[in-house]
Amino acid sequence: MQPTPPIDRPAWKALQPHYQRIREVHLRDLFAADPTRGERLTAEAAGLYLDYSKNRVNDETLRLLVQLAEESGLRSGIDAMFRGEKINVTESRAVLHVALRAPRGASILVDGQNVVPEVHAVLDKMADFCNRVRSAEWKGYTGKRIRNVINVGIGGSDLGPVMAYEALKHYSDRSMTFRFVSNVDDTDFAEAVHDLDPLETLFIISSKTFTTLETMTNARTARAWSLKGFGGDENAVAKHFVAVSTNAKEVAKFGIDTANMFGFWDWVGGRYSMDSAIGLSTMLAAGPENFRAMLDGFHRMDEHFRTAPFDRNLPALMGLLTVWYTDFFGSQTVAVLPYEQYLKRFPAYLQQLTMESNGKHVMLDGRRVDYDTGPIYFGEPGTNGQHSFYQLIHQGTRLIPCDFIAFKHSLNPIGRHHDILIANVFAQTEALAFGKSAEQVKAEGTPDWLVPHREFDGNRPSNTVLADRLTPAALGSLVALYEHSVFTQGVIWQIDSFDQWGVELGKVLAQRIIPELENKTEPQLGHDSSTNALIRRYRKAKGI
Ligand code: F6P
Repeated sequence: MQPTPPIDRPAWKALQPHYQRIREVHLRDLFAADPTRGERLTAEAAGLYLDYSKNRVNDETLRLLVQLAEESGLRSGIDAMFRGEKINVTESRAVLHVALRAPRGASILVDGQNVVPEVHAVLDKMADFCNRVRSAEWKGYTGKRIRNVINVGIGGSDLGPVMAYEALKHYSDRSMTFRFVSNVDDTDFAEAVHDLDPLETLFIISSKTFTTLETMTNARTARAWSLKGFGGDENAVAKHFVAVSTNAKEVAKFGIDTANMFGFWDWVGGRYSMDSAIGLSTMLAAGPENFRAMLDGFHRMDEHFRTAPFDRNLPALMGLLTVWYTDFFGSQTVAVLPYEQYLKRFPAYLQQLTMESNGKHVMLDGRRVDYDTGPIYFGEPGTNGQHSFYQLIHQGTRLIPCDFIAFKHSLNPIGRHHDILIANVFAQTEALAFGKSAEQVKAEGTPDWLVPHREFDGNRPSNTVLADRLTPAALGSLVALYEHSVFTQGVIWQIDSFDQWGVELGKVLAQRIIPELENKTEPQLGHDSSTNALIRRYRKAKGI
């Protein structure tokens, strides 16, 4: 069946004139007209409280956005995903990250087979391995304790593990060192190992396909570095290398015993895999109990997304608001601003989750879209961003919807720090929404010529996500919130949020250029004049 473009849906058509009216309305007036707005336009689930009252919406907007979700088949889309249907149409794959956190005993079928027992079998194997390494029962080849763990992976096989390691550092075993090598830039590897002893170092080679150029290059370098420490004794590999992959054949070919491999499945997308075996480094750092608590947090948000009505459904609401700003206000970006130092890598993680998922220019049937899809996500932890790019958010010419993420309690309470941090969250959302009028600025005695510079228009939208404290469960809920928000957007836009063909061309061209940089004999260059000249310059610098 041909998908209906969102712009042809009745709700979208009704949102257009509605937008023309509401774009003139200021948040000051919306709040003045309804003293309960700040409590009414909120929703709560899985330990997260979402205040979406500071968005440029009224009840009619919300009603139409929910109608848009219904007309777009969001309900049946959710059911299809949870039922294991092959909703990743271009790769003919099920999309079942929700199965990764389904409780033992649940049943989720892929091609008629319940995958939940396999999921738990891998989790149990991971837990057993992690307990052995953490207790030093698993030793290095020479009998030394494993003190260092290096995850080698890229994209979803790196960003989730790095983000989760940083996010759960408070809960991690501080006697161990964790590092992450992703970039094929040799400096990444060199810096990761420069002060480490190979006899105490375990490598996790994380790659869904086990063919990714960067990861396999780094994995081979890691193997050589490790073996050098063991005088070339290949028998050491079994104690110092494990793999996380769906590709047992390639793992064996690389020389890792498949007994030391932790599997996952083609129905787990790379950017949706941090809660699969790809999270092995997370489990090693924070322990199996904390990892399971994180999975519970994910699952609670999954259940909320699956069952809650859209007008109280956190991921649905956030997804719909993103569509509202992207397609009606013409916003190009979303700023994600975690006021929690442990979430410092969360924006980087979200960039892959959101942009690799929804950076698409065709609908499910291949027709080109004639509306905007996925916005650019960016962010930094607060309060650092305030002293950097917030100027543009407050007074620039673009509308940048913001997600503020904050916790009621610090994990490291020191004096007044947390009160000051949280005061900044609330102050920023207030300043963005309400601004400061010219009259207010003048009343402060500001000279006339300076007034325009010091005036804040306000009417800049934001969400505030507030949770108790950054526990493993809260992290799971937060990640699932964004995963399902991305899904909601994809359903409205009728795109495949689960493929990533856009990364292929560059990979193919790089494979062609590598020998042109390395061959001793002058290659016949058939690129454009710019690429040819760059290649020649590089070869000259290498002296070939
Ligand atoms: O960047 C493309 C991509 O396929 C991502 O989707 C994926 O997370 C990453 O490469 C790494 O892939 P793999 O885990 O197979 O090495």
